[in-house]
Amino acid sequence: MRGVKILSTGMCVPKYKLTNEKISTFIDTSDEWIVQRTGIRERRIVTDETTVSLATNAAKEAIKDIDPLEIDLIIVGTVSPDQMMPSTACSVQAEIGATNAIAFDISAACSGFIYASKIAIEAINCGSAKKALVIGAEIFSKVVDWNDRGTCILFGDGSGAVLYGETDENKILAFDVGSDGNLGQTLVLENQPINNLFVKNEYSPSFIKMDGRAVYRFAVNVVPKSITKALEKAQVNIDEIKLFVLHQANERIISSVAKNLGVDINLFFKNLDKYGNTSGASVPIALHEAKGKLKNGDKIVLAGFGGGLTWGSMVAQW
Ligand code: ACO
Repeated sequence: MRGVKILSTGMCVPKYKLTNEKISTFIDTSDEWIVQRTGIRERRIVTDETTVSLATNAAKEAIKDIDPLEIDLIIVGTVSPDQMMPSTACSVQAEIGATNAIAFDISAACSGFIYASKIAIEAINCGSAKKALVIGAEIFSKVVDWNDRGTCILFGDGSGAVLYGETDENKILAFDVGSDGNLGQTLVLENQPINNLFVKNEYSPSFIKMDGRAVYRFAVNVVPKSITKALEKAQVNIDEIKLFVLHQANERIISSVAKNLGVDINLFFKNLDKYGNTSGASVPIALHEAKGKLKNGDKIVLAGFGGGLTWGSMVAQW
């Protein structure tokens, strides 16, 4: 039977580190408040980088051992592209010379990487691709209101990439994914308003708006259930999992998920202190940094959750 495995990973973050102390110089907040409520100490924000340049650099690292012509599919999960058209994925395709690939973006916010991975893995499973590159790439520093202390402290910019490939022994064990559009208004990033022959709207810059407590309740409720369902589908006992790599939204969410699942918090990888919440990029960035802890055959759980609202969990073997 045809199977799929993770072949390699890559990441890229902007050079500039924006610390909590620095943010405290221009809005009314403090390092202590931010660390206590979120676990975030600093985040990277772009100076001269773009969504495409971050995604391209992450991709180049992930594909350094293969010929780009071997890539059949490129999917980028992003809600902060440089342009709506061409897609980030098509721009990356051009940058890396993957001329045999088809390339497109998907919009699933902080679950974007898991959603894109599911599509890519199914494409390999059904024989329409042999190698698929999945990238999460975001520049949230352009969509947060830097005068809103409730949101601007949370986010950072960056990109992570994973190359999946066909293999004899399947290492992608199961997924659980879901969406709940009824809760969509708890986390909103508006796009350009309609202005046409019939409808006239004022244009003003749009920023992330969030009901933080509702998002928190959603995450701590849905993520443990989703991980449990994915483990059941994979027929893997939770005790067999060597590492949980969750979307790096908030330390308190990760701790609550660990507690809810009855798992030692030390099995949950965390790097949000360095990068903040990089939305669709956070899971592949975390996986890239976590891989030093993994041995061949280790079972892992990846999980994303966020805007939509959306969520997804994946059980895999390293
Ligand atoms: N510094 C100092 N004070 C602040 C700050 C800040 N940066 N932000 C808010 N406050 C104040 C508020 O003004 C408020 O003051 P008040 O009581 O005088 O009105 C007080 O702190 C409490 O504000 P809340 O917004 O209720 O703060 P809360 O305790 O809910 O913490 C947080 C906010 C950290 C965002 C929390 O709601 C949370 O963890 N939410 C989870 C959602 C999340 O992480 N979203 C990330 C994006 S979504 C995703 O990736 C899935």
